[in-house]
Amino acid sequence: MIAQPKILTPEMIAKIEALAPRYPNRRALTLPALHIVNAELRHVPLQAVVEIAAVLGLAPAEVQDTLTFYQFFHQERPHGKVRAFVCRSISCALRGGDHLLEHLCHKNGIDPYGTTPDGELTIEPAECLGACDFAPCILANDDLLKNMTPETAEAELKKPRARAT
Ligand code: FES
Repeated sequence: MIAQPKILTPEMIAKIEALAPRYPNRRALTLPALHIVNAELRHVPLQAVVEIAAVLGLAPAEVQDTLTFYQFFHQERPHGKVRAFVCRSISCALRGGDHLLEHLCHKNGIDPYGTTPDGELTIEPAECLGACDFAPCILANDDLLKNMTPETAEAELKKPRARAT
């Protein structure tokens, strides 16, 4: 059998281990570990799940269960360099959130959850972002974009943006 190349770097493992004192046990590190890998790779492939499990002393299925419980992590391929969550909950929906999502997907030639062919942008519907006062809004990486219109959202999502943390 051909050994898979390692996906977790020593730096990723060191970041996971650095968090260990803050958690009651190694199982509790599962979600932070997934976030650490996702922040680096923009997805968490199955081999990374196996490696996280080995680091934490868990079965791969336990890590995979956590990954699939949250719809946050992509597994098959990386999300875009900018990941835009377009809120579709009630306040944003009443102020055009659905239209905003449809417009941005159409303009970028992708479906919701899709990524542009150049790997720059992923657009995903989201539930309430906790910023209903500013509806409709979008979370683009770590930036909250408030009171968006189709035009302002389109312009905002073309701007360079720091990676999500
Ligand atoms: S409904 Fe969109 S931020 Fe709350």
